[in-house]
Amino acid sequence: MTLTGIDADEDEAATLAAATVYVCITCRRPDDPEDGPRPGLALARATAQAAQGTGVAVCQVQCLANCSRPCSAAMRCDGAWAYVFGGLEPDRDAPALIEGARLLARAQDGILPWRGRPEILKRGLIARMPPIGFEEERE
Ligand code: FES
Repeated sequence: MTLTGIDADEDEAATLAAATVYVCITCRRPDDPEDGPRPGLALARATAQAAQGTGVAVCQVQCLANCSRPCSAAMRCDGAWAYVFGGLEPDRDAPALIEGARLLARAQDGILPWRGRPEILKRGLIARMPPIGFEEERE
């Protein structure tokens, strides 16, 4: 059966709705004042704005245990690998986080593709974790 344009749009929306970006709102760089506005919060707000209309959810969290490489964010989708990123800039990298989440949501193998991945999500990658139930294939 061929999907109509509407079905395809609904399918795409459902796929993207499965993606969540988590942004640490307590991150600050070494030179940022301890009692000043947190750049992590600025990144979270910019990411939420960048997500508008995409179906990607954005969630604020306090610390992703990547404090030495601020600003930090993570992304995950059902059945996919989860990714943690660092070295993000609030005034630059919010669109990249949303683009990455969209790529991850569409990835058939549950792995964020290297090709087409925004540059900051390449050089800022800290770690990735397999989905629940994952079993490495053995020879
Ligand atoms: S304060 Fe942001 S990762 Fe710890």
